[in-house]
Amino acid sequence: MERIELHDKKFRLFIPNEKIEEAIDAVASKINADYMGSGSTPVFLSVLNGSFMFTASLLQKIKFGCEVSFVKLASYSGTSSTGQIKELIGAGSELEGRDVIIVEDIVDSGRTIVELHEILTRLGVSSVRICTLFYKPKAYKKSLRIDYSAMEIGNEFIVGFGLDYDQLGRQYKDIYIIENQ
Ligand code: IMP
Ligand code: MG
Repeated sequence: MERIELHDKKFRLFIPNEKIEEAIDAVASKINADYMGSGSTPVFLSVLNGSFMFTASLLQKIKFGCEVSFVKLASYSGTSSTGQIKELIGAGSELEGRDVIIVEDIVDSGRTIVELHEILTRLGVSSVRICTLFYKPKAYKKSLRIDYSAMEIGNEFIVGFGLDYDQLGRQYKDIYIIENQ
């Protein structure tokens, strides 16, 4: 499909599935090179909902012993005036002492990834690396290192391959970009 419509917005084909898979191949090779023979059995921590397709594809290309687990970041209002507090659903003390590779769909401003990193540090993990399908370097405002990024894009808004616009568009195998309207 060349064009799709989600809610009130129109999107056009941007990155076909073959290109996405090539980029995932390349990032998987880097991860394989870093972890093979290291003696570590890392946990790939997939951040739902956006990274479900990326996680499935990436994990099929991993050649060393590893685990995979799925988490969700939920916000709830704290009792203090500090406002929103993030809670990690689906992970806890079993991550203590583990090497963790966060699997994200997209890193934009970096807020999400920094919050996740802080929570994992509090849980006492041994190491944290970040692996993302998409990275928007022009929007990124944090100093945390993005260890593995499959594709870099500008500040445009994209959907497909797990990424959504207001929950729609996750099912497409290709990536679509928002059209100026
Ligand atoms: P950050 O916390 O600003 O880095 O934003 C990360 C989150 O924003 C991602 O996990 C996505 O849910 C969402 N997001 C940012 N950019 C896009 C995009 O282009 N398409 C779809 N979702 C996006
Ligand atoms: Mg989203």
